[in-house]
Amino acid sequence: MSDARDQQAKFRRQQPLPIRFVHWCNALFIVLMAGSGLQILTAYPYLGPRGALYRWYPLQGVAPPSWLTVGGWLAGGRHWHFAIAWFFVLNGLVYLAYLFASGEWRRRTFIPARDAAPAVAQFLYYARLRKSPPPAGFYNGLQRLAYSSIIIIGVAMTLSGLAIYKPVQLHFLTMLFGGYDGARVVHLAGLALIALFVATHLVLVALHPREILAMITGGKRE
Ligand code: HEM
Ligand code: HEM
Repeated sequence: MSDARDQQAKFRRQQPLPIRFVHWCNALFIVLMAGSGLQILTAYPYLGPRGALYRWYPLQGVAPPSWLTVGGWLAGGRHWHFAIAWFFVLNGLVYLAYLFASGEWRRRTFIPARDAAPAVAQFLYYARLRKSPPPAGFYNGLQRLAYSSIIIIGVAMTLSGLAIYKPVQLHFLTMLFGGYDGARVVHLAGLALIALFVATHLVLVALHPREILAMITGGKRE
């Protein structure tokens, strides 16, 4: 069975249509989720309950700039956030289903025994502490690490989002995050990690413009 899948993978484009489709939908959804989330944060830009704020949070009372927000006001931001959240989740499920059904996960996801050492070597290469890049397959170890981490961050955003959305009905989930305030901390930290991922991702893909074309047209058949 897996041989047949490997055979199919040989005739697939570098970036098969389902991956391209969910990738570009996801890019749009993340911008809308981050913008509407920041609009929601603007209404109460503090962490911790009223009267007992988390002192370690450096941005207490600092509202995000309005050009980063989507929705115009709290209710508008919430409408956008809750509407797009389901598309974001569905899109993620389609991606995971395709990744596993097609066998593409083998060359795209981070498998520690295979990828940990090459990821460190690749990092040392980027940091100019190593002269030549380590041998890489379809993706290098660092790409696999980044792309698998962002899947886990997406799951954490969904679970912490659900914990804030229905803290009474889903109280077991909310308790898992250490309560409502803990879930907000995780949700906001997730936003920061997504921003870090996107900034690094954009710099790295800008260094390989041909890959951007492949993410649009599909690229060569393997
Ligand atoms: C890329 C994904 C996401 C990003 C970047 C994001 C970002 C944010 C941000 C910045 C906030 C404001 C934080 C606060 O003030 O507490 C927020 C609030 C919230 N998010 Fe998300 N979020 C994402 C996904 C989701 C998902 C998938 C769900 C639901 C399943 C969700 C549900 C919520 C809820 C319920 C709130 C609080 C709304 C309120 O207090 O009125 N989020 N989000
Ligand atoms: C919200 C933002 C984005 C997220 C979360 C994101 C996430 C990802 C992920 C998870 C992959 C790996 C897909 C796989 O192989 O299964 C990927 C690949 C890729 N992305 Fe993005 N992406 C974003 C925005 C962009 C943008 C704006 C561009 C182009 C300007 C871009 C260009 C690419 C390219 C060229 C690849 C191919 C793989 C490579 O060469 O490393 N992405 N992206």
